[in-house]
Amino acid sequence: MPKKNMVIFASGRGSNAVALHDAVAAGTINADIKGLVCDIPGAAVMDRAREWGVPVILADRKKFASKQEFEQFILDQIAPFQADVICLAGFMRLLSSDFISQYEHKILNIHPALLPSFRGLHAQRQAVEAGVKIAGCTVHFVVPDMDAGPIIIQAAVPVLDGDTEDTLAARILEKEHPSYVQAAALFCDDKLIVNGNIVSVKKD
Ligand code: GAR
Repeated sequence: MPKKNMVIFASGRGSNAVALHDAVAAGTINADIKGLVCDIPGAAVMDRAREWGVPVILADRKKFASKQEFEQFILDQIAPFQADVICLAGFMRLLSSDFISQYEHKILNIHPALLPSFRGLHAQRQAVEAGVKIAGCTVHFVVPDMDAGPIIIQAAVPVLDGDTEDTLAARILEKEHPSYVQAAALFCDDKLIVNGNIVSVKKD
């Protein structure tokens, strides 16, 4: 099966981007990483992508008069990559429905909570403050609503006595990397079937 063209969008340190890259390099994900889009000047993830020799596109929202112009810039920049899959890996911006409609069911996201609980910012803090005993992460297809869309994979971790946002985030992050790799690998092997909200995995 031909390799999928993958583009990664990220805003920060990039540990999920690194996990995806390492799995692509190991052949676990049937893809080539064609480019990285970053919206934060100086973000560490851009250094990682340069080390891999992957083209970096910096799209600084402050440089654009409107969200529409910002997104059009990204669309124009990534068009040559002919992306089969866009992986949001700690990309902290909501994409518009116009953007998403151009890549319908081709955009994946990871969120550090068991969706549909704790959408939005500081999901791990929300979990600690809510007193839940189980937290985790979710990889899902992106739809115009924030942190919503058909769920591909979830992984759970316990919330322990005395957990802070940071200790819980670290425990969840250990699950994020293998979960994202597994979800992206299934997608790139054409194994995912989406039926409304329900994602199922094709049997061999
Ligand atoms: C990860 O925990 C990811 O799940 C979260 O940002 C972090 C990025 O870390 N994403 C969201 O909260 C999206 N709503 P990373 O830059 O090391 O991958």
